[in-house]
Amino acid sequence: MKNILITGGAGFIGSHVVRRLVTRYPEYHIINLDLLTYAGNLENLRDIEGANNYTFIKGDIADKEMVNKLFHLYDINTVIHLAAESHVDRSIDDPLAFARTNIMGTLNLLEVARDFWKGRTDVLFYHISTDEVYGSLGSEGFFTEKSPYQPNSPYSASKAGSDHFVRAYGETYGLPYITSNCSNNYGPNQFPEKLIPLMINNIISNKPLPVYGDGNYTRDWLYVIDHAEAIDLILHKAETGETYNIGGFNEWKNIDLVRLLCTLIDQRLNRAQGSSEKLITFVKDRPGHDKRYAIDASKIHKDLGWKPGVTFQQGLALTIDWYLSNKEWLEHVTSGEYREYYEKRYE
Ligand code: NAD
Ligand code: TYD
Repeated sequence: MKNILITGGAGFIGSHVVRRLVTRYPEYHIINLDLLTYAGNLENLRDIEGANNYTFIKGDIADKEMVNKLFHLYDINTVIHLAAESHVDRSIDDPLAFARTNIMGTLNLLEVARDFWKGRTDVLFYHISTDEVYGSLGSEGFFTEKSPYQPNSPYSASKAGSDHFVRAYGETYGLPYITSNCSNNYGPNQFPEKLIPLMINNIISNKPLPVYGDGNYTRDWLYVIDHAEAIDLILHKAETGETYNIGGFNEWKNIDLVRLLCTLIDQRLNRAQGSSEKLITFVKDRPGHDKRYAIDASKIHKDLGWKPGVTFQQGLALTIDWYLSNKEWLEHVTSGEYREYYEKRYE
């Protein structure tokens, strides 16, 4: 019997992981701990909120007393840790918030787990991280599990710090752990401050499309449901102490990707071809902007047989359709505080 504490389960990736585990494993109890920051949204989980094996708790991973109570109350034997401040631009504006949640919050969870599990080996702390901890690639090569850590943004530095603490708890206290580092995700429910949903939202509403610098920055894109599948496989099949890189074998320069989104949405909305491309606006570059990320995902393929389940064409079509049919969700998450933040940034 697994009693799984999923942190950040109301966020983008977390909600897909929660849905997958709640529906595929009715014998597990899934406890979703989420602070519901601007990025967390219970609308992401409406379809499963009444499930018998699911419990939602609103709370902060940095609140030790509360986390400790949860471990005791639900006899937690597995943690899948996704809660984080996750947006690079926000980390440039407010690095301390990232240190607080991503480093101190993770450390707090580790402390509670260490104390509650007391040397048990039939438990697992599964930490979800990013390829951004490895820094930036030149035009050649890929990140592997052996790449050195060279984080460049406050976000990636805070995630690197959390990765190191997880590893240190394994080495020092014998805490059973696994870490996976994934490339850029896209798909339904992603907050529209990240590149793909921001561009989809702005194209739909005929707003400028802000491309940083010359747009010649490369990211490796993975459909979020493929990431959730990889997490499920790692949870059940990977050895403790392992790390896995997860990626889409799918590199795109930002400018090419934005042009592709314009074309696909023009077709979908029966607009004249080329009309949305006119919205592209080159804006001031992000400081410390990493040039290229690309993952070598051969280890997870070799060990666990994982590979992405959808092509980029399929994933983008599903994503665009989702945003077009969920305008209320978009309207809701972009109103209020976020609208002010965005308007201050660009308008
Ligand atoms: P997200 O910003 O959409 O969601 C983060 C969730 O964490 C939100 O629901 C938020 O309410 C919650 N949260 C934030 N602070 C909290 C706190 N103190 N206590 C409890 N809950 C808190 O993020 P995401 O894109 O879904 O990313 C999830 C995880 O995956 C993060 O750890 C991120 O670093 C990692 N990751 C993301 C990507 C990506 O492309 N989005 C890629 C690789 C790894
Ligand atoms: P983002 O989605 O913020 O992910 P990350 O920085 O974690 O990779 O950005 C993806 C790429 O898109 C990155 O190179 C920055 C760029 N970008 C823009 O050009 N314009 C934008 O408005 C945003 C949000 C990102």
